[in-house]
Amino acid sequence: MRIFSGIRPTGNIHLGNYLGAIKQWIALQETNECVFCIVDLHAITTPYNPKELQKNILDAAAIYLAAGVNPEKSIIFTQSSVKEHAELGWLLGTITPMGELGRMTQFKEKSKQHKDYINAGLFNYPVLMTADILLYKGKAVPVGKDQEQHVELARTIAKKFNQKFGSPRGEAGKVFDEPETILPKAGAKIMSLQDPKKKMSKSDDPKNYISLFDSPEDITKKIMAATTDSGKEIIYNVTKKPGISNLLTIYSLITDRSVEDIQREFVKKSYSDFKKSLANVLINYLEPFRRKQKELQTRDIYVKEILNKGASRAKIIAETTMKEVREKMGLA
Ligand code: TYM
Repeated sequence: MRIFSGIRPTGNIHLGNYLGAIKQWIALQETNECVFCIVDLHAITTPYNPKELQKNILDAAAIYLAAGVNPEKSIIFTQSSVKEHAELGWLLGTITPMGELGRMTQFKEKSKQHKDYINAGLFNYPVLMTADILLYKGKAVPVGKDQEQHVELARTIAKKFNQKFGSPRGEAGKVFDEPETILPKAGAKIMSLQDPKKKMSKSDDPKNYISLFDSPEDITKKIMAATTDSGKEIIYNVTKKPGISNLLTIYSLITDRSVEDIQREFVKKSYSDFKKSLANVLINYLEPFRRKQKELQTRDIYVKEILNKGASRAKIIAETTMKEVREKMGLA
């Protein structure tokens, strides 16, 4: 099965991105053909600094590699280096109803957040995301909960394309499969450390998230300052104890231990004991990310070579799909 997923290179890829998306990729690449993209064209739909974008792309690549994405197996590349993404994005835009795009939660949230930056690219963002997936005829898309709505729209657009331009031969006449979302069993929505009713988000103040490159000192500071709940017990209860429940989820996913097991360990212990232990666990777990970033900072030619090779492999698939799409749409 071909799998597609991507992350915006915004310079502060965090624990939520890792637990919601990247961790799933590592398991999936063992038995599937995976395409993992660094979606720079998506990153520029919200305010950004052009001088930092290239560094952020290399940092994203360092994260993919440190997490265990294998570039010999999976395709890793930068979205803008395969022009077909933009081309298919435009073509699919012509069959996407404006009403569908206006309904998208991420568009609504981001337009509220950046009132003076509500650009057409932000509005069309889910169409480009659909193009990303369909260009590779991706059958499944491992993402966090917040991207589920976008993958649903990709399904709608794929269906529409097939109806309008596919051959009338049922399944066999289909150009695109409708891609399925793959959500992790736990960790599909990691919450903010400061406000555990909100998801952990790149655009919030850094105290709200653990960046994968955070120093041990910052990890300790952020975890110790994380909002907890009234009471003293360390028990999982999302309604009554959203803060502790979020920290328990993180603890469980990082250590591969069940929440119950961790609860048992911390019976009669304080929030502070629990948080100190979580901070230590995280510091150790994220050490390879800090190391890889440092190591690759002086080896950007090596990283660029991986991305270029990935782009060449991606292009072969993308060009084949575009040939078919142009023919079906009467453009060739
Ligand atoms: P982005 O860069 O916002 O997030 C990358 C991935 O991280 C997941 N995620 C989370 N998971 C759990 N808890 C959280 N708090 C959390 N925050 C983010 C996201 O669901 C995502 O999987 N539009 C996408 C990038 C994209 C894409 C694609 C993804 C572009 N084209 C095609 C899949 C397929 C995005 O903005 O992700």
